[in-house]
Amino acid sequence: MTRAHRCNFTYVEIDWSGLRAAATEVARRGYAPYSGLQVGAAGQTSDGRVVLGCNVENASYGLTLCAECGLVGALHAGGGGTLAAVSVVAADGAPLLPCGRCRQLLFEAAGPGLLIDTGSGPRPLAELLPSAFTKNDLDTRRSRDV
Ligand code: THU
Repeated sequence: MTRAHRCNFTYVEIDWSGLRAAATEVARRGYAPYSGLQVGAAGQTSDGRVVLGCNVENASYGLTLCAECGLVGALHAGGGGTLAAVSVVAADGAPLLPCGRCRQLLFEAAGPGLLIDTGSGPRPLAELLPSAFTKNDLDTRRSRDV
């Protein structure tokens, strides 16, 4: 049986160099007195907006917020939506791959086919976080109503 699929998203052009430049600029505002690694993240939403975040460390080390946490916070604070492309860099402007926790965080904010900037070109988040735990696991596996 064949089934017709209706693709219902608008194609957005990704300005990778602009996104990386924005991430580099915001990395310089990263608060990283403990690790010394300032990180910036810039995301382009599926409707063309740019959202930013930088890392924020704390004397209680484990409380550190990655740059991607700030970015996802900014996405929601700015009215929500989904991400089409994300660039994460250190203050030197070179790409960093999101840590495992941030891949999970980005997954839930992702539009179809979210791309992540890497040193060797953009890669789909789904490739960086295969077999992800998702909201669907909660919806299908919870043992009581909430
Ligand atoms: N960091 C990020 O901001 N994002 C990542 O994906 C990896 C790590 C930050 C957290 C901490 O402030 C510093 O990099 C060193 O781990």
